[in-house]
Amino acid sequence: VGDTLALTPPMGWNSWNCFADHVTAEDVRTTADLFVKHGLRNHGWSYINIDDFWMTRPPPDDALWEKLAERAIERGYAPLKIPGADDLPRLAGPARDGEGRINANPRFADMQGLVDHVHSLGLKIGIYSSPGPLTCGRCTGSFGHEEQDARRFAEWGFDLLKYDWCSYRFFTPPYDRISKTELQRPFIVMHEALAKQPRDIVFSMCQYGLGDSWEWGADVGANLWRTTRDIIDTWSSMSGIGFSQSELAQYTGPGRWNDPDMLVVGHVGWHAARRASRLAPDEQYTHVSLWSLLAAPLLIGCDLTKLDDFTLNLLTNDEVIAVNQDPLGRAARRVARDRNLEVWARPLADGSVAVGLFNRGELPAKVTARWDNLGIHGARVVRDLWRQQDLGSFEGEFSAEIPRHGVLLVKIRRAEKIVDKNKQGE
Ligand code: DGJ
Repeated sequence: VGDTLALTPPMGWNSWNCFADHVTAEDVRTTADLFVKHGLRNHGWSYINIDDFWMTRPPPDDALWEKLAERAIERGYAPLKIPGADDLPRLAGPARDGEGRINANPRFADMQGLVDHVHSLGLKIGIYSSPGPLTCGRCTGSFGHEEQDARRFAEWGFDLLKYDWCSYRFFTPPYDRISKTELQRPFIVMHEALAKQPRDIVFSMCQYGLGDSWEWGADVGANLWRTTRDIIDTWSSMSGIGFSQSELAQYTGPGRWNDPDMLVVGHVGWHAARRASRLAPDEQYTHVSLWSLLAAPLLIGCDLTKLDDFTLNLLTNDEVIAVNQDPLGRAARRVARDRNLEVWARPLADGSVAVGLFNRGELPAKVTARWDNLGIHGARVVRDLWRQQDLGSFEGEFSAEIPRHGVLLVKIRRAEKIVDKNKQGE
């Protein structure tokens, strides 16, 4: 706590949703180049984050597998699957060098070159590890090497670390008996290691919301913490996560953000499938509007080599992004609900209010935002942020017809005082 990192929610890209276990340095470099080519960089998008699978994987005869398999049985987890030898070549190589420094796998042979390239574009770059001996993808994690890894990440020049609980669970009691101290410990260790480095590294805690981690994420030095399990590109996953975040608003602020997971827009598609998002266009407007209101980190989860105009427009609307990046850092809460119709509001630094009128139902419906629920009085100008146009002046309430699964994202501000020049000086 008390550092000055991530004063607004990080905006960028993460390799997991589209490249998963086959991510290469080339994919990451190409994405960075496309941030520049498509102008995303000019709208605040800046982090290029490598997720799991950049490191090597221990060979099947490594003693670690047996040890973890035993621990899995002891703790009542599903049996640990030991990867076959045929799966190794692309992740082959010793986990660490002679000095204990973590190695990248052959697909990231020139990590330094990659980091330097991303920085040369004026972008930032993120890396991933786990406090366990293995990541979720069963590649090498930081267990017992935390300080060495923090130093390595800093030497390479990384700007963000996503630290993913994963196999650390084999070293704690089962979840029904785990204490808060045990949930916090590995993050404190890594945060202290990062704090010793002569480089600012944003700390992204990935613990899927276990143990109400939003309550103490900032205390263990995290700048963002996942509040949920993994998102997928369905309406029920995205809306289930997004609309469940109201109670967590109080934990968000500059440098400390709830992270409801990545944006499933564009060409996501798990692993090799790489299909277009299964969210309909109105659902994608809902997704980006809600994540902006929630002051959530905005991490694009799609393959930018397949970027289409709709997705590019969705990601480059400056008035919508300004809501997400508002310096006050207050997250939206649900202020009204009538069955499937919801109104969410977020106070902004300039005294105005960002408001989402959502229709979670299956048919178009009229949604009303009442001033009483927004804590405002009198005449207000309502501006449609996606269309970037004022809708007029309203008093007491504002209503709009909202399509199925859709949204109207507005900013509600005081009407400007009109100064009558003829009367000046009277
Ligand atoms: C679980 C996390 O929740 C995902 O975001 C991703 O990082 C995977 N692990 C990687 O294995």
